[in-house]
Amino acid sequence: MSSIILTDIRKSFYQGNKKTEVLCGASMEFQKGLWYTVYGASGSGKTTLLNITGGIDKPDSGKVLDGNLAGNEDIYKKSDFQLSGWRNNKIGFVFQFFHLLSELSVEKNILLPLELKRRELNEGWYARIVEILDIGDLLKRCPATLSGGEMQRTALARAVINRPDFILADEATGNLDSDNSRNVVNLLNDLKVNAGVGIIYVTHESNIYDEYDEKILLENGKLIKILGE
Ligand SMILES: Nc1ncnc2c1ncn2[C@@H]1O[C@H](COP(=O)(O)OP(=O)(O)OP(=O)(O)O)[C@@H](O)[C@H]1O
Ligand SMILES: [Mg+2]
Repeated sequence: MSSIILTDIRKSFYQGNKKTEVLCGASMEFQKGLWYTVYGASGSGKTTLLNITGGIDKPDSGKVLDGNLAGNEDIYKKSDFQLSGWRNNKIGFVFQFFHLLSELSVEKNILLPLELKRRELNEGWYARIVEILDIGDLLKRCPATLSGGEMQRTALARAVINRPDFILADEATGNLDSDNSRNVVNLLNDLKVNAGVGIIYVTHESNIYDEYDEKILLENGKLIKILGE
């Protein structure tokens, strides 16, 4: 069983001399095939947590371990090249602010992860994503012309195109109406159930979808499992 294990993660940011401690001893094990909803107030460190978990941002201390049959490996001990390979293979990011490439069409943005890995496109899967997310009419457009919700659905399609082990979704339904939000949640759940993908879904809303297996609160820089709900 593959997992990502955070052990005693600490991370601070400095603005001039002013230090903000964002994560102060966050620990958690995220397993493939389960859905983790992490909720916390705006500014509590959710995006920071996802960046650290997904190999984008190194913590000040503590470890991010890739747990698999061969043992646990500290991802930040890898070279930059190895770490970006790990990320491309294992992680699908849905960024809070999308990070779509403006010079590429919607379709090229979605297919980019496959190109990076020189993987074949699974046409059936692609068609299904396009249908569920209702983005068929957008494929030839460029990202700058899309609405926020359309960008969000495009970003989600890109994150799931190569069925990564984990999807790290940062406010993935924040810009969507209730029908589209439901579609996104269903798509993520489908990936969990049928492809064994692990979902780490962060949100500032305490009123959350009940598709999760674990509900976690991010507060005062720590992760706290909410039991018995
Ligand atoms: N690069 C940075 N430099 C300085 N401060 C930062 C940086 N990144 C984040 N912070 C600060 O760290 C804190 C946590 O930020 P983060 O983006 O992780 O919060 P968040 O929970 O994702 O918030 P939101 O719900 O508004 O997206 C905030 O106070 C933010 O201002
Ligand atoms: Mg955020």
